[in-house]
Amino acid sequence: MKNLNATITAFGKYLPEKILDNFDFEKMVDTSDKWIRERTGISERHIAADDEASSDMASRAFEDMQSRFDVDPEEIDVIIVATITPDMFFPSTAALIQENIGAKNAWGFDLSAACSGFVYALETARQFVESGAHEKVLVVGAEKMSAITDYEDRSTCVLFGDAGTAVLIEPTERDVGVLDSIVRMDGMGQDLLYMKGGGSRNPASHETVDKKMHYIYQNGRPVFKYAVNSMVDTGKELLKRNNVSKNDLKLFIPHQANKRIIDVCASKLDLDDEQVMINIDKYGNTTAATIPLGIIDAYDEGRIENDDLILLTSFGGGFTWGATLIKWSVE
Ligand code: ACO
Repeated sequence: MKNLNATITAFGKYLPEKILDNFDFEKMVDTSDKWIRERTGISERHIAADDEASSDMASRAFEDMQSRFDVDPEEIDVIIVATITPDMFFPSTAALIQENIGAKNAWGFDLSAACSGFVYALETARQFVESGAHEKVLVVGAEKMSAITDYEDRSTCVLFGDAGTAVLIEPTERDVGVLDSIVRMDGMGQDLLYMKGGGSRNPASHETVDKKMHYIYQNGRPVFKYAVNSMVDTGKELLKRNNVSKNDLKLFIPHQANKRIIDVCASKLDLDDEQVMINIDKYGNTTAATIPLGIIDAYDEGRIENDDLILLTSFGGGFTWGATLIKWSVE
């Protein structure tokens, strides 16, 4: 059997129309545009409409993909949806997207890894493709974070935004695409970043609603430290074992949770400003959608071309983290 690599061949994104900027938050909680920009790097974020769920945003991202590339939904074999804001527990968001986009020959599932969702889903898709099991895997990162955000909690509400993204993964015999990756998890993080209500441990009740257990909770400072250390360690390890030097790397596209985290990671990886993708200012933290938004924006801005080496790193609830090295190749 020929040696197959998995590569991104198509992509699309969707941002909801409504925008909340930092000044809107000044009217909602005790905060300021200055604090949010200086402590997080965020200026504004998109917020989904009340009747717009993660599957809707993902389906619109797929439409954007179809406007950019010739993609036949009936040829898709698998749909993997990275999300912590599924439309509902079941059926899966993957099934809802399959119906919306007409991918009638696909199977699929949702994958929960918080902000590492895209890196986890990409790694899963890679295994399907490199093994020869499947030829077209749609990897979706879609989040309606506004649905699980407490807009009375200033320490979290300013951070998150909504978005839908989709990338298509296909096999190639060329030495391009996902070259290598590292994925990790440590359940010790469960008390630092979570949403405890609604599952089998704390089923929805008046009490869980009264205690605001259906919202995201984060203890920011320790999470910040773990995020930096984890992304730097995996990023360095991946570059080292693939003999990629600083000058070989075109672009670092990290998860966008906080510009200060990105700046520290970039400095510890010894990268120059032009090697770092930052778009958190426009979108906030869109969890599983940040990295694909970074890839798509970088492509649209002409910052990545075929054969460029790209490093992705992620960190999120769980804890989960990972890094992916890609040699870009899109026809
Ligand atoms: N406006 C004004 N003041 C605020 C705000 C706000 N929006 N939020 C918090 N503060 C205050 C705090 O109350 C605190 O005040 P105090 O000193 O009087 O107690 C002060 O600012 C400092 O608070 P910290 O929490 O220490 O602020 P920090 O500088 O750490 O920034 C943040 C908080 C942005 C959350 C940061 O810790 C962070 O980015 N953490 C990591 C995020 C991350 O990577 N998460 C993982 C991915 S998310 C996922 O998986 C879903």
